[in-house]
Amino acid sequence: MSGWVRHRVFKTDMASKSMMLRQFLMEMARNPLQVGAIWPSSQALARVMAQWLPEDGDHPILELGPGTGIVTEELLAAGLPEERLVAVEKSPALARALQARFPKARILSGDALEIQELLGGQKVGAVFSGLPLKVFKPNQVLRLADQIQSCLLPQAPWVQFSYQLVSGRAPAPSFRSTASQVVWRNFPPAKVTVYRPLPATS
Ligand SMILES: C[S@@+](CC[C@H](N)C(=O)[O-])C[C@H]1O[C@@H](n2cnc3c(N)ncnc32)[C@H](O)[C@@H]1O
Repeated sequence: MSGWVRHRVFKTDMASKSMMLRQFLMEMARNPLQVGAIWPSSQALARVMAQWLPEDGDHPILELGPGTGIVTEELLAAGLPEERLVAVEKSPALARALQARFPKARILSGDALEIQELLGGQKVGAVFSGLPLKVFKPNQVLRLADQIQSCLLPQAPWVQFSYQLVSGRAPAPSFRSTASQVVWRNFPPAKVTVYRPLPATS
């Protein structure tokens, strides 16, 4: 790639990133509870999440609450082909901006509590979530876990970040926590936890 072309690509990318950031800050002002964050996630946090991208398989990878697309970006940088990414974002404005930024990905504007229907029963190889579970009602968290379990392949990871650094409990009894890491280079510091579904008991 020539220096001039590289410069143009860099400028276009910077412009679309700052457009996403503006959109995100507008959403934060308009609907703070839905966004559930006081600042966008850092690249350091997104990188820790993306480390859990499964190396094999060709199933779609599901992202919930992608927001500014920082985790999306790191998943692609970790080797995920854009066509395999499906994301569900509740804010229609953010979903539109993400689709423009990642044209080959499938960005669905909708509610993560309806993923089974949104995905039409399709199975996914992992779930990466930036959803603010702290502001979900307990019955919504259980419904979300149910929906995630129904679309995750057996033993596939649900990678979630939260600002609760101490709690080690899984969000629902049908999942167990298998790994976690605190990321200090985020504002505020956050914890990435990997949950895996427990085998169904009969
Ligand atoms: C903490 S923010 C995004 C974090 C992201 N890592 C970032 O910094 O850009 C949470 C995102 O989840 C979205 N969201 C909240 N509730 C949702 C739901 N029920 N379904 C889908 N998206 C939801 C919000 O619109 C917001 O974009």
